[in-house]
Amino acid sequence: VEDVVETDVLVVGSGPGGAAAALLLSTLGVSNIMITKYRWTANTPRAHITNQRAMEVFRDLGIEQQVLADATPHELCGDTVFCTSIAGEEIGRIHTWGTRPDREADYQLASPCLTVDIPQTYLEPILVRIRTERGTQARFSTEYLSHEQDDDKVDVRVRDRLTGHVYTIRCRYLVGADGARSKVAADIDLPFEGAMDIAGSMNITFKADISAYVDHRPSVLYWVIQPGSNVGGIGTGLVRMVRPWNEWLVVWGYDITEEPPHLDDAEAARIVRDLLGMPDLEPEITGHSLWGVNEMYATHLQRGRVFCVGDAIHRHPPSNGLGSNTSVQDSYNLAWKLAAVLRGEADPSLLESYSEERAPVAKRIVTRANRSAREFAEIFDALGITGLTDPAEMAAVIEQRKDNTPEGAARRAALVTAMDRKNYEFNAHGVELGQFYQSRAIVSDGSRPAASADEDLFHVMSTSPGAHLPHAWVGDSVTKLALMDLAPYDRWTLITVAGEDWAPAAEKVAAELGVPLASVEIGPGREVTDLYYDWSKLREVEESGALLVRPDKHIAWRAPTLADDPEAALHAALSTVLGRD
Ligand code: FDA
Repeated sequence: VEDVVETDVLVVGSGPGGAAAALLLSTLGVSNIMITKYRWTANTPRAHITNQRAMEVFRDLGIEQQVLADATPHELCGDTVFCTSIAGEEIGRIHTWGTRPDREADYQLASPCLTVDIPQTYLEPILVRIRTERGTQARFSTEYLSHEQDDDKVDVRVRDRLTGHVYTIRCRYLVGADGARSKVAADIDLPFEGAMDIAGSMNITFKADISAYVDHRPSVLYWVIQPGSNVGGIGTGLVRMVRPWNEWLVVWGYDITEEPPHLDDAEAARIVRDLLGMPDLEPEITGHSLWGVNEMYATHLQRGRVFCVGDAIHRHPPSNGLGSNTSVQDSYNLAWKLAAVLRGEADPSLLESYSEERAPVAKRIVTRANRSAREFAEIFDALGITGLTDPAEMAAVIEQRKDNTPEGAARRAALVTAMDRKNYEFNAHGVELGQFYQSRAIVSDGSRPAASADEDLFHVMSTSPGAHLPHAWVGDSVTKLALMDLAPYDRWTLITVAGEDWAPAAEKVAAELGVPLASVEIGPGREVTDLYYDWSKLREVEESGALLVRPDKHIAWRAPTLADDPEAALHAALSTVLGRD
């Protein structure tokens, strides 16, 4: 008879998706075990761009300062360069991740947090430490093998890779955060669209202090256009900062229809020297690996008591920096729902809303990331070098953009357009922030956020049910809070102006339904004031109205004005969302 260990939730995987899931569950007091196949966390830097929504999750968890302490700050992230090599000619720059002054305003107005850069090798240990402190039982070197579920539980067979011992973890729910080759997703036969391994790519990590070439144009990304750099890969060659300015990662593509290239330290050093344009450099090569570019997403994310998050359900190139961010946010959507069902606050049908809400996000990000990688072709076209393979010829044609001729002028005009297009990769604020949910866990009033000038580039704040709570600074003469700070992850929050009418209703409904629900009043003379009068312009409900905010900061329901019977209205809305009507 095999040993059986019991827990409420088993999380398979310790990447950003799994680490966040376990941390969120532990923060909510839900018993959980996290297993991962390897002895420690990610061994290469991998994902790094950490966007505003992910930083908000860390703020909500109370770990924002710890993440910032290990991150390269926002102001060093954004002078993204396109060049023929790091030491060679610069073709142009683009302000990225909201660092262009006009876009910086959009980013600052939309969130209390800004985009920063923290490689997975730094982020994962923070999540691992804090989730373990908060209650997660972490089991490294432990492999998921298979599972069986019935109406009450999931029995998961796992193997301790140190001893070979196979045992069963019996849980109420299983979360598969086991990455792009997810066995959990395969075992529950999730439906997928798209294809894996559509292009070949390699990562090379190295150490070399090249501050002199970059610290006057600080960025996390330097894109290199050379012969072969548009073959496979993610659009063109990339030199990516891991630590400013002496640790780096190169991404270089190869033709996936051919034999995989032979990659050893000498070959890796040659590629590094070429991309840096420094023929005499002796870089310290610290690692290299081949990987495939994927374009695949699941159209349904769960089966019974088993759910998948992260790369298990969305597989795409790093373009737009959406990988780990979306993985963290998948878990942010799922963990409070699992907690609510486990505590008996919600009907299990609430869990269906996970797939309803996150499957469209998976499709959107996979589509966007792959399109961004392809759009690099416009820069090659603008330079006139598509299809060229001879370095001398390529260099000569790149020079033509300087000519005082009609062809030169046409090249320059095409370059302006092609460079502008890269905003869809590097300043896609609408993709990063604009998740609007339509599901059983939202009481729609038929409204949607106002149309955006471009829904990939620009995020529109709104309180339409399904939208994310807008950002505004609130507080009093001694305290400055983000609106999201008033609606923490461990409860529901009713935001009102004229709280006298709503606060008693919220108190009664919380008691009647046995759900953590608190009301917050924001206005002159109330416990929290609208410091800059921004919230009054953003809230889209009358002074007498109210907004019901879910733990994950999406608006569940809103009352445009005072309801005839606030208690009945709130009771009906919350019951609907919790599947208890
Ligand atoms: P992730 O892949 O991080 O984690 C999977 C976890 O599951 C691991 O802990 C693993 O041990 C565990 N696991 C797998 N099978 C298991 C089993 N059978 N039993 C137990 N545990 C199991 N993204 C980006 O935005 N920018 C970038 O530059 C890069 N670069 C990059 C390079 C490389 C080489 C890779 C592989 C990936 C990237 N990515 C990336 C993608 C990014 O890393 C990815 O989106 C996130 O790590 C996804 O997080 P997850 O938690 O979903 O999976």
